[in-house]
Amino acid sequence: MDLDLVIGYNLTKELKEFFKINNVNRLYVITDTIVSQLYMKYIDGVIKNWDYNTYIIPSGEESKNMDTVFSIYNDLLDSNIDRNTYILAFGGGVVGDIAGFVASTYKRGLKYVQIPTTLLSQIDSSIGGKVGVDYGGYKNIIGSFYFPEKVFIDTYFLTTLPKREITSGLGEVFKYGLIYDYELFQYTKDNLDKIYEMDLNVLNIIIKKSVSIKEKIVSQDKKDFGLRRILNFGHTIGHSIEAYYGFNRYNHGEAVILGILYESYIAKNLGLIDRNYFNEIHDILLPLVKPIKFQGNEIYDLLEIMENDKKNILEEITMVLPIDKGRVKIFNNIDKDLIINSLKGEWF
Ligand SMILES: NC(=O)c1ccc[n+]([C@@H]2O[C@H](COP(=O)([O-])OP(=O)(O)OC[C@H]3O[C@@H](n4cnc5c(N)ncnc54)[C@H](O)[C@@H]3O)[C@@H](O)[C@H]2O)c1
Repeated sequence: MDLDLVIGYNLTKELKEFFKINNVNRLYVITDTIVSQLYMKYIDGVIKNWDYNTYIIPSGEESKNMDTVFSIYNDLLDSNIDRNTYILAFGGGVVGDIAGFVASTYKRGLKYVQIPTTLLSQIDSSIGGKVGVDYGGYKNIIGSFYFPEKVFIDTYFLTTLPKREITSGLGEVFKYGLIYDYELFQYTKDNLDKIYEMDLNVLNIIIKKSVSIKEKIVSQDKKDFGLRRILNFGHTIGHSIEAYYGFNRYNHGEAVILGILYESYIAKNLGLIDRNYFNEIHDILLPLVKPIKFQGNEIYDLLEIMENDKKNILEEITMVLPIDKGRVKIFNNIDKDLIINSLKGEWF
């Protein structure tokens, strides 16, 4: 299915229009504690003419598990939710992934729409149909591909985001630039202050460009067997760092920024990119998230997490590495000494 999405500021009219056109009678809103505190009154105003229920989960990654899913199933049963009800995923990536998973499984599938409210969810997690939860210490290990009927990307919600959440979204924006569109990397770099000042014109441009890159890549490889894997640049090492700290020291995009830094150093040492390009990446990303000089056992723990990564074949470590400005390639069986060398952080 092609992704239907709209990007703009204050999309209340578009939202009401969508529910009317699709003869939606009933809605089931899934949101989190922070988003509901900030915006539930606003959404209540938009959907007041519809019959609706609201389910509020505690904010944060700790909620992204099957317990939350079972609680929502129970509430769906208690509320007599039928297959004509639309689920509204209203929040960041955690809410979107859970709500999408519930929508994909309850009564063999309910229709759902996404209203992503973080920069990361607007440019990444709401696009591409991946839904799911964490299980057994593994991130996103239970899930499916299930596309929303429509995604409403409304920059109205971004002004309340804490600075760290902007940085998190920027991690993925820089990644898109480095894997696909060097101009986006440069534009983001040149407008960093404006982004943190919440200049909506600039945000609008980077969101549109990012979404269109993700859409282009996903449309060629919906189920993640080929081209889509380039989206994992920065994620092999980034994910290992995120997991090593129990998913509570770095948020997703911050970990991706670290991953891009360590992995770009590996690319430089392999001779895939020159020193100037590495320095350019380094100079812009290093001030955003401070890397760590890992030592001894820390490095072996990180390697073990990388070896167990669900993206690998056997225990070979696979990485997406930059080969030129705005271009990357997938490499299998990366030499562990190169990884160890990079994790030691002698390059900063
Ligand atoms: N499905 C995918 O393709 C995909 C891709 C990337 C990431 N993800 C997943 O997305 C999740 C991360 O998403 P996220 O970064 O949006 O995290 P999140 O949903 O935890 O949101 C981050 C924080 O911001 C708060 N928040 C949300 N909107 C806000 C607003 N407008 N103003 C102020 N605070 C707000 C949330 O309550 C939370 O505390 C991870 O679980 C990751 O695995 C999924």
